[in-house]
Amino acid sequence: MSEEVLKMQKISKSFSSVKILEKVNFDLNKGEVHVLIGENGAGKSTLMKILTGVYPKDEGEILLKNKESGQLEPIDIPNPNAAIQLGINMVFQETNLLEEMTVAENIFIGYEPTKNGFLDKKAMFNQTVELLKRVHLNISPNILVSSLTAAQRQSVEIAKSLSHNGRILILDEPTSSLSEREVRTLFAIIADLKAQGVSIVYISHRMEELFEIGDRITVLRDGTFVGTLNVHETNEEEIVNMMIGRKLEDTQNNSNRGKRINYSKVAFECKNVTIGDFKDTVDLKIHSGEIVGVYGLVGSGRSELAQIFYGIDPIRKGTVEKAGKKISIRNPEQAIKHGIALLSEDRKKYGFITGKSIRDNIVLMKLRELSYYRPSLKEETDIAVKYMNDLKVAASSEHQSISSLSGGNQQKVVLSKILAMNPDILILDEPTRGVDVGAKAEIYDIIYGLAESGKAILMISSDLPEILRVSDRVVVMHDGSIKMDEPNVDLSQEKILQAALS
Ligand SMILES: Nc1ncnc2c1ncn2[C@@H]1O[C@H](COP(=O)(O)OP(=O)(O)OP(=O)(O)O)[C@@H](O)[C@H]1O
Ligand SMILES: [Mg+2]
Repeated sequence: MSEEVLKMQKISKSFSSVKILEKVNFDLNKGEVHVLIGENGAGKSTLMKILTGVYPKDEGEILLKNKESGQLEPIDIPNPNAAIQLGINMVFQETNLLEEMTVAENIFIGYEPTKNGFLDKKAMFNQTVELLKRVHLNISPNILVSSLTAAQRQSVEIAKSLSHNGRILILDEPTSSLSEREVRTLFAIIADLKAQGVSIVYISHRMEELFEIGDRITVLRDGTFVGTLNVHETNEEEIVNMMIGRKLEDTQNNSNRGKRINYSKVAFECKNVTIGDFKDTVDLKIHSGEIVGVYGLVGSGRSELAQIFYGIDPIRKGTVEKAGKKISIRNPEQAIKHGIALLSEDRKKYGFITGKSIRDNIVLMKLRELSYYRPSLKEETDIAVKYMNDLKVAASSEHQSISSLSGGNQQKVVLSKILAMNPDILILDEPTRGVDVGAKAEIYDIIYGLAESGKAILMISSDLPEILRVSDRVVVMHDGSIKMDEPNVDLSQEKILQAALS
């Protein structure tokens, strides 16, 4: 028998008179994983930010089960602290931990246990050990957060939420920067928490995950509630239909793209290049008009390769050529001058400037490229608006701050910025991270269009269907060297994975 712990009813919310949520319903049972899904900008994060006191709601009601009476009762959540007191916690994609403090200090910040008025270090240590066990983390409570991996930080955040008797845990795209193994660990933690009666709201664009761990699923579209379904009574097609209100054309394999054309012009080439501390050397060619897909597991050297080509990491050995001429790339400025652009997998770090408008973010690189000439404000606006339309960026106008965009729309702005530079060689590292199924198809079309116009494209992706769908040629990396380099003709996921593991 399912036991309701939370009910959100007819929740509405506007930002500067734009309606973002319109009478949305959402409820949660004890010990369930309730998936929240919808296109980029549908309002998923906003709904959960209302539940955690980040934003006030304009209308509607939130009912929470009172532990004493056992009844659902209306509550107010005026600020994030109030949510924490009620046992409602959210783990954001970018964690909020303090780098130079220990794991234990981070978990108990503001709630330190005391004894006779003094900090009770021993209690803090012991309680941290217990909490870390619950999230399968085998680290010392006294280690500094700065030395943890992204996955470990996320687990510390989950542990922190449990420290406040958390009974509702919201995970917003928790797997987007995790390796396959780390995803497995997270799912094991989620299963444990469920068994302990914690209710979980799970936001993700990865369809396979939803079927694996979800109990129920709620779909939002354009800020409205479409429906709630039992996961075992539905399928991917139904959910996609509910999300986008139309049928998506076949998104399956496209494993014959490699037959498309014969390439004549080498646009970019590296010879004898080594990656990090790996011994083997890498030789790679990209032709004009060609999309080379690079697949490799975490640690294979795939992103390091991109960083070398863009001048973030130094070239220790080997040479790089553009159109047959040796070039030197010691920093990103030089790379840009040579017409090389990088869409980084880390959009917070290399992608955009927080606090600036969409327009300023899109024209940022354009300005640098044309440093002798400053476009007029009108030209800047035209450029920005063109790309916003091309990529269907959901925003009120080009003046909206990029920080207030949904995750997927931020990704589209970062891609616009790269396109506005009009580079010859595009390195796209995880171009569709955090992007919904509909927008993915749009981004693929843009990549095809770029190739058609003669650009050379290196696309790094950890999404095998994406590699097979988009690439003309597939390159597989392992331990800093290339294990496979073949035209995308009758390739399969299995074959690529095998090469990545060997
Ligand atoms: N602080 C804000 N000010 C103005 N608009 C905002 C603000 N926060 C969110 N929005 C807008 O609300 C809409 C919904 O955003 P939200 O982040 O909830 O989407 P989402 O469903 O989480 O999308 P994604 O899958 O891309 O993360 C977007 O159009 C976004 O631009
Ligand atoms: Mg979001």
